[in-house]
Amino acid sequence: MGFVLLLLGYLVGWPLLQARVSASSIETGKKLYAQYCAACHGTNLEGQPNWQTRKEDAKLPAPPHDATGHTWHHSDDQLFKITKLGISDVVPDYESDMIGFGNKMSDDQIRMVIEFIKSTWPQRQRDYQEQRNRVE
Ligand code: HEC
Repeated sequence: MGFVLLLLGYLVGWPLLQARVSASSIETGKKLYAQYCAACHGTNLEGQPNWQTRKEDAKLPAPPHDATGHTWHHSDDQLFKITKLGISDVVPDYESDMIGFGNKMSDDQIRMVIEFIKSTWPQRQRDYQEQRNRVE
């Protein structure tokens, strides 16, 4: 009987615990996003105006992170690398305003920001991105 209760507790409790942990890391990710990303990518993840047109300095404006952008075309791994190291590090000889945040945020914090961004996507974008994770 004790064992059955323990097993039940494990089966029911673990997903609940997981859900709580991930809800709180998304909350933290949201705060980190406001602090480090919103200035360029927009408070509501809307990006900068005319984000597909290069500026006078030949660099691209910041794209949206919502469903209208293409952040969801990248796997978790790519998003992590871009955020930690910056685009110029991932694509050599490419000039970009997207610098790395590896010196400002821990790896866990970077993952939380990405989880927050992902949590705002509609199901279609989430499914597509989930597929990218499996391909890579
Ligand atoms: C100083 C402005 C600025 C800040 C702050 C900034 N970004 Fe960016 N980000 C950019 C620009 C500009 C690009 C597009 C660069 C390019 O393609 O040349 C970009 C691109 C990206 C991309 C690639 C998107 C895609 O669709 O290819 C990701 C992911 C990203 N940023 C995440 C973040 C995260 C997460 C933060 C906060 C931790 C952040 N950025 C903060 C300017 C910024």
